[in-house]
Amino acid sequence: MKESCIIFGGGGFIGSHIAEDLLANGIRVTVFDKQNASKKNVAHILDKIDFIEGDFNNEVDISKALKGKTYAVHLVSSTVPATSNQNTFYDVESNLISSLHLFEKCVEYKISRLIFISSGGTVYGNPVKLPITEKHPTEPTSSYGIIKLTIEKYLYLYNVLKGLDYKILRFANPYGERQNPFLTQGLIAHLLYKIKQGQTLEVWGDGKVIRDYFYIKDGARSIYRAIRDRSSNRVYNISTGKGHSINQIIERFRRVLKLDFEVNYMPGRKFDVRSNILDNRLAAKNLKWIPEYTFNEGLKNTWRYFLDNE
Ligand SMILES: NC(=O)c1ccc[n+]([C@@H]2O[C@H](COP(=O)([O-])OP(=O)(O)OC[C@H]3O[C@@H](n4cnc5c(N)ncnc54)[C@H](O)[C@@H]3O)[C@@H](O)[C@H]2O)c1
Repeated sequence: MKESCIIFGGGGFIGSHIAEDLLANGIRVTVFDKQNASKKNVAHILDKIDFIEGDFNNEVDISKALKGKTYAVHLVSSTVPATSNQNTFYDVESNLISSLHLFEKCVEYKISRLIFISSGGTVYGNPVKLPITEKHPTEPTSSYGIIKLTIEKYLYLYNVLKGLDYKILRFANPYGERQNPFLTQGLIAHLLYKIKQGQTLEVWGDGKVIRDYFYIKDGARSIYRAIRDRSSNRVYNISTGKGHSINQIIERFRRVLKLDFEVNYMPGRKFDVRSNILDNRLAAKNLKWIPEYTFNEGLKNTWRYFLDNE
């Protein structure tokens, strides 16, 4: 029988690209997302996937959706780094407790492997050494990062206690088509949207904060590789291994995309770590995963999408 995969939160930015990639690899895809959530991100593949509406905070919904699937991908999050500290109780309840319900059900239904998309941008905290390898100390500076790390630890525990097979992909900073420009998490989408609207760009801090941006179509390929991974390693950084400051991105917008706009610099944010560049050599070695798109190609594709859609 054909292998199948359920993607929790699959109607979002990252999930829609993972769905496309798994389909291309011959896997049957079910997307699980909120009731009445917009299906716009998966509209182009709706005839090829199953779409289940449900609430990730409801274990009966999780249970029904999971039954009979070979693999599961966990992408649901009710918070982003900037909002997570505002209500830490909510962060724990909606993200941690629901993840534990998912793990229980994965064990019950003998899911062959669970892939968790974690956050390489927040679980390490302020870097001691760059680029950051998977063995770097983990000292998150936001509730969001603490929850991602705690989910990782529980995955380890569920493997030891109940044999749950899993892989963790610590994503750096994805960008690309369908990223929500209104969240504080997707800087490139946010800036391109504002440029399209003819608005002035607002940059937190001096614009020297460095992040490791990778194109989402590259990132999406890492899930299939993780499903097929036969090594005993559990945790991988997914990144380019190269850092860009906000000022460098703004410069690329002007030089590569030929865009014209104003920039206004604002006070910096406390939870933003100064620099985050992830070492991706372990993913290259075990998963045979390396980014294929250049930064300029990814930016051009993203801008074209924003021109046509947002
Ligand atoms: N975007 C990034 O920069 C980034 C980086 C690293 C990790 N991540 C993680 O990857 C995951 C996906 O991120 P994204 O950017 O695609 O976000 P997104 O908001 O585009 O997608 C998340 C999806 O989950 C769905 N969802 C939320 N709560 C739900 C619930 N209770 N029941 C059912 N569905 C629910 C949303 O409707 C949405 O479609 C998140 O866990 C995020 O923390 C994102």
